[in-house]
Amino acid sequence: MSKNLLALSDLGVQEIQSMLEEAQFFRETGLYPRLEGKVACNLFFESSTRTQYSFCVAQNKMGMRVVSFDPASSSMNKGETFYDTVKVFDSLGVDVMVIRHQENEYYRELLGHIRAPLVNGGDGTGNHPTQSLLDLLTIRQEFGRFEGLKVSIIGDVRYSRVARTNYEVMRRLGMEVVIAGPEEFLTPEYPDEDVDKAIATSDVVMMLRIQKERQTLWQRFTEEQYHSAYGLTAERVNKMKEKAIILHPAPFNRGVEIASEVVECDKSRIFRQMENGVFVRMAAIRRAVED
Ligand code: CP
Repeated sequence: MSKNLLALSDLGVQEIQSMLEEAQFFRETGLYPRLEGKVACNLFFESSTRTQYSFCVAQNKMGMRVVSFDPASSSMNKGETFYDTVKVFDSLGVDVMVIRHQENEYYRELLGHIRAPLVNGGDGTGNHPTQSLLDLLTIRQEFGRFEGLKVSIIGDVRYSRVARTNYEVMRRLGMEVVIAGPEEFLTPEYPDEDVDKAIATSDVVMMLRIQKERQTLWQRFTEEQYHSAYGLTAERVNKMKEKAIILHPAPFNRGVEIASEVVECDKSRIFRQMENGVFVRMAAIRRAVED
């Protein structure tokens, strides 16, 4: 079995379920694997707050030594390539590398050339496996199952690695997944629904961040107009199913895709997702480094 975690589509349902059970165990008991003597290296070539620092907290809680990396002050300034930079840390003898990079499947050029197991912290518009694991854990805590649940993913779906990863794994776990949003974000890859219908009929409403650089969108809408047409407003929350929950991978734009007062409303599990991020990342690191 490969110890890399690159895409959830590489893992069977059984293994995904057992990683979720393990993360839940860590959360409930506070009993974590002891990984003293192991060194983790977090290489984030693209900005991150949640993923980068929840890996860091998870690694520290398991007793690991953590090496962080700042591309801006590294020898990449002298022209060192991505490949050669990763090879440096592998040569230094780290036990696991967590990498985020803006290129889809950045890891392809590394496979077979590095010794340390690799955990994908997000690649371009490709995959974000640990984000999906924490989304799944949050859903499982709420409903105790996946089968038969309806999930709507609303917003910048076309360019989202979170949407891509979740769409694949959630359907494999027996959930119905629909998307909603303006035409710029829809793609024939995914079935779409009217935003009000999607919100009113789903068990899980997952909002996605609207990126400021989507210029064609902003030629058609002001932020206020977007919010009114597609945002999760308090009025739309009132029409959600009684037990439905709100997820957002964050960072979120208050007043654009989600109303500020909705971020911490009763149905929101956004900060619980962040809590769960630490425990699923413990499971991902343990899987990578333990014999
Ligand atoms: N959800 C997520 O990946 O957040 P960061 O970009 O802050 O890591």
